[in-house]
Amino acid sequence: GDNRLQGYFDAVIEADQKIEPRDWMPEEYRRGLIRQIAQHAHSEIIGMQPEGNWISRAPSLKRKAILLAKVQDEAGHGLYLYAAAETLGISREELVGMLLNGRQKYSSIFNYPTLTWADVGAVGWLVDGAAIVNQVPLCRCSYGPYARAMIRICKEESFHQRQGYEILYTLAQGTDSQKAMAQDAINRWWYPSLAMFGPPDSDSTHSERSMAWKIKRFSNDGLRQRFVDMCVQQASVLGLELPDPELRWNAERGHYDYTEPDYDELMQVIKGNGPCNRQRMEHRRRAHEEGAWVREAAAAYAAKRAARVPE
Ligand code: ACO
Repeated sequence: GDNRLQGYFDAVIEADQKIEPRDWMPEEYRRGLIRQIAQHAHSEIIGMQPEGNWISRAPSLKRKAILLAKVQDEAGHGLYLYAAAETLGISREELVGMLLNGRQKYSSIFNYPTLTWADVGAVGWLVDGAAIVNQVPLCRCSYGPYARAMIRICKEESFHQRQGYEILYTLAQGTDSQKAMAQDAINRWWYPSLAMFGPPDSDSTHSERSMAWKIKRFSNDGLRQRFVDMCVQQASVLGLELPDPELRWNAERGHYDYTEPDYDELMQVIKGNGPCNRQRMEHRRRAHEEGAWVREAAAAYAAKRAARVPE
């Protein structure tokens, strides 16, 4: 009965092994995973917009080719993640429907504008850097299809982070105004990147449950601290500043002390009131409608093939 199944499930989690799609799992575990994986998939797809904004304006053909590849990678990440969510018994159509009707979320970070070319660098360095810190531990998440998708995603995210860092490094070695542009982008992206990790642990509704189930491996604050510690040294190599006067090494804790992001602002952005929420959703809706003919053609082709008499 269910007790025996629950016991088996608990033992698999305890032993750090994987739950696979056909295994029994508690309904709440399934729902929690769908929520997190779908939110992650939607973030990848919406996340194409702020950088897609710069493809036609990249400063050289080489920069353009790199950025194009990066934005295409994000579409690919969305696809692996939707496919992982589908193994939990929900369709792509339902998932996309929940993004479009606002029942499911996407990351707050993609509701900020990319105002200059340096923002493409800052997004790569800080936003993709934060994504890596958050996602590397998810390669060890208890749900097999999600964990396996994360391995490839993290490899590609590492390339994304390097390309962003290299853009900022180049600007930082450039003219005074290029260096100022890089600094300005870091100033604007720093706190929103810290907020990406979610509310503080004390206000995180899902952390305890998700960590017990190994859907999440570390807490929001734990990962945020890891990210801060990583960025300090990288900023000094760039010769640029992180915009936090309180940032200093705390020998007792073995970590940098830092100023928390504005969590009220995070909640406002999550609720739909960030600078670009409306624009992002409008764009996604329009792209979905304009892509209807592709979905119809693919379905018609699949039906035709299925009806064909085998030779
Ligand atoms: N943006 C939008 N919503 C957020 C954010 C954020 N940065 N952080 C937390 N939330 C939401 C949660 O979804 C939750 O709302 P819900 O119950 O309606 O789903 C609520 O705020 C409370 O937060 P938590 O209980 O802490 O949520 P959770 O345990 O899911 O932790 C986190 C949030 C860390 C983002 C987690 O879901 C996660 O690790 N997800 C996988 C990685 C991911 O989605 N990354 C997306 C951006 S990275 C990229 O695409 C480049």
